Amino acid sequence: MENVINYLKSNFSNYLEELKDYLRIPSISTLDDHKNEMLNCANFVIEKFKAAGLENIKIFETEKHPLIYADWLHQPGKPTVLIYGHYDVQPVDPIDLWKSNPFEPTIIDNKIYARGANDNKGQNFVHIKSVEAFMKTTGSLPINVKFIFEGEEEIGSSSLAKFLKENKELLKCDALLVSDTSMYAPNVPTITYGLRGLLYMEVEVTAANRDLHSGSFGGAVANPINELAKIISKLHDKNGKVTIPNFYKDVLPISKEEKENFKKLKFSDKEFAKELKVKELFGEKGYSTLERLWVRPTLDCNGIIGGFTEKGAKTVLPSKALAKISMRLVPNQDPKKLAKEFTNYIKSISPKTIKVDVRTLHYGYPAMTSLNNHAIKSAAIALEKAFNKKTVFTREGGSIPIIVDFVKYLNAPAVLMGLGLDTDDIHSPNEHFRIENFEKGLYSSAYFLNEMAKN
Ligand code: BES
Ligand code: MN
Repeated sequence: MENVINYLKSNFSNYLEELKDYLRIPSISTLDDHKNEMLNCANFVIEKFKAAGLENIKIFETEKHPLIYADWLHQPGKPTVLIYGHYDVQPVDPIDLWKSNPFEPTIIDNKIYARGANDNKGQNFVHIKSVEAFMKTTGSLPINVKFIFEGEEEIGSSSLAKFLKENKELLKCDALLVSDTSMYAPNVPTITYGLRGLLYMEVEVTAANRDLHSGSFGGAVANPINELAKIISKLHDKNGKVTIPNFYKDVLPISKEEKENFKKLKFSDKEFAKELKVKELFGEKGYSTLERLWVRPTLDCNGIIGGFTEKGAKTVLPSKALAKISMRLVPNQDPKKLAKEFTNYIKSISPKTIKVDVRTLHYGYPAMTSLNNHAIKSAAIALEKAFNKKTVFTREGGSIPIIVDFVKYLNAPAVLMGLGLDTDDIHSPNEHFRIENFEKGLYSSAYFLNEMAKN
């Protein structure tokens, strides 16, 4: 094992250069004109699979972006781990707020800045390289591994969901390994055992059949922006509770044990507020910040479009206004049921002066993974060896909807071994990843493969 770690250490600067090449590919899955870049990125990963000594490398075409697979299965009797990652990234807007080119990785203060540096290229690359280190030093791996990387995580993973249903045998494994979450704090190795789900809706309000002069018509015809604002304002009550009927009906209460565990994490509201430069935190009354982030559902307006938004002034009653509203869901909420409740509620509070269309964009179920298994124990030990600190167990406010499908179809536990930090600005300008986390992530991955082989 020591020689593998030494190999990783002595090759670290090469790995960092290779990661930069990975980050230079603008693999933005949601943009139609980036289809070729997506293919380039898939081919890049395939080359890395080859260099790592992986076998049976396959590229699966889908309706959108390719899925890529590779494996190494020469340890009969030892467990098989399926390693998941996504090579797609979020768009870079607003581009003006980036301090460096999002696709020209730049190192400042021991952090690498680029779109995808944390989410998810920096995190998934460590697993390819730890496999490579084993192969180059020992000529084999301690266990069996399979890799499945997708290009649609940031747009809902629909191709992988379909593929998973149809290829259970190919992806069969004893545990799933994913690095696409956050560590609790810098240098605190973390395993995440719960992810929130997501329901993403759009509400479109139409009043008159066209834009109107606000002097000739204002006061006589409804203004869709005003009406939409009223609707949005009715979605929470004064205690920060979501007002949609039955919204909390299926929410599981927090167990005493979990409440205690959260307390042990010693979360500081003060520091959290300070880092974000807000005077006070916000949210549902009666719950701690960690509870509000991890075990309580939320509703947020993510974008609002309507009327005149250029510089200067224009007097107009717009014909339409639109809001993008998403809900983070927790066990056992059902996004399909809630989409109906949401739609009915919006219709019920809308006045006759407007027409309202409610659409579902996408949804994903919340996920929980079991902690009492060999894979989780191996991961906790591996992280402790790499970071020299005790592993903590957390939930996560964000979502990775495909995890639920993995657990369901493969009937295997998921190990969420996150290497990012919530302050890494994923999905935002100046996304970055700590180089130290990249390095310790490489060791964590290698130790994990080694621990999994022990019985
Ligand atoms: N890596 C994130 C999940 C995540 C978010 C981990 C925040 C840690 C903190 C993942 O790539 C992601 O962005 N998921 C989306 C899912 C959506 C597009 C279906 C999310 O949570 O918004
Ligand atoms: Mn993401």
